[in-house]
Amino acid sequence: MKLLLIGGGGREHALAWKLRRDDPSLEIVAAPGNPGIATLARCVPVAATDVVALLDLARTEDVDVVLVGPEAPLAAGIVDIFRAAGVPIFGPTRRAAEIETSKRFAKDLMLRAGVPTARAEHFTDAAAAKDAVRRFGAPVVIKASGLAAGKGVIVARSTNEADTAVDLMLRDGAFGAAGDELLVEEFMTGEELSLFVITDGHTMLPMLPAQDHKRLLEGDTGPNTGGMGAYAPVSIGSRGVIDDVCSRIIEPTLTALREHGRPFTGLLYAGLMLTADGPKVVEFNCRFGDPETEAILPLMRSSLLDLVLRVASGDRLDGAAPIQWESRHAVTTVVAAAGYPDAPVAGTALHLPVPPVDVHVFHAGTKLGNDHALIAAGGRVLAITAVADSLEQAASQSREYAHSVELEGKQLRDDIGWRDLRRNARTP
Ligand code: AMP
Ligand code: GLY
Repeated sequence: MKLLLIGGGGREHALAWKLRRDDPSLEIVAAPGNPGIATLARCVPVAATDVVALLDLARTEDVDVVLVGPEAPLAAGIVDIFRAAGVPIFGPTRRAAEIETSKRFAKDLMLRAGVPTARAEHFTDAAAAKDAVRRFGAPVVIKASGLAAGKGVIVARSTNEADTAVDLMLRDGAFGAAGDELLVEEFMTGEELSLFVITDGHTMLPMLPAQDHKRLLEGDTGPNTGGMGAYAPVSIGSRGVIDDVCSRIIEPTLTALREHGRPFTGLLYAGLMLTADGPKVVEFNCRFGDPETEAILPLMRSSLLDLVLRVASGDRLDGAAPIQWESRHAVTTVVAAAGYPDAPVAGTALHLPVPPVDVHVFHAGTKLGNDHALIAAGGRVLAITAVADSLEQAASQSREYAHSVELEGKQLRDDIGWRDLRRNARTP
């Protein structure tokens, strides 16, 4: 069995690790992969966005199935193109992926389907958007409608700040075409939760709930990043909450997508806010999240490969057993380069001590330098996942290993999992 894995970050390293664990004889070709993935797969220097070259690669390698990590190839219609060519691929079509790639589409769909989410209006005109800011009142959220690499959301504390955000998007084009249209959105308060659901478009198989730490600094302060860490499971994501999210959020969303002629298959990622009025959608993504995937997969007992194969080949999942999990805890600490997120320093030497058992070192932005030594090659360099019987233990092992990584100017957060750690400390 041969699988083509598209992408080259920490998420894809965790995916490759899990798939090989499910079937040690699985052959993985990764495009482009990274030095960590290269220990599990054959890496081929084809960019994750070069859909034409990827199809060529899939054909030359005669792969049985394709798994897509990042959103960009999904937004470019890789699933439509591979399906038309008869290559089984896991992921949504371009039109179904609009649940992530067009915040306006996602919002309209949710509002029409009665899916709980923040109230919002969309604008291309700055004056009209600023009027709406006044109607909504501060704090208020300004979102670029298109894909902006996780940076297109500005939570404005004051109407002035909101006006600045509106100008940045509509007047200055700071987010390119992604910001040609924006949403003015009601600010929600509550705790955030990420829930991934594997789906054939009808049946939902929820994964373990995780919590992401998007801000650079401890206590969830500082600038937004791609994610500085994650942990799973999360105590507030109880069975009851997950069932509620599936029935009031995921199921009506999948139904609405089908009714729009855009059935969604693959992995649907619900970014949720647990508000006083119940769970509401912050955003949907059409792919595995990063770094949540690095925390979730080491706890997954069921075969991911089996589900990927079934969904990619168009089988229905009805009758599939719920996904089984280890009753342990995983904490992922991201090690980022100096200067991240604004201007990450690349090329710094990287030394990795031998990790203890139950510590996984997932490579995110690494590459081999001219002398074949490992160097940093991205903002987020590593994702360190520790698995342990308690969250406290997992957090301290993940943190300890992350500190032992030699990378000049490295940045990491010492408080991954703090919300549940604090809850645990309060419970006698
Ligand atoms: P997104 O890229 O849509 O996940 O947004 C990034 C972050 O902005 C989210 O993780 C939230 O912390 C915050 N955010 C987005 N929308 C809202 C909202 N309506 N109310 C409060 N916070 C929000
Ligand atoms: N963890 C956030 C994302 O993958 O978009």
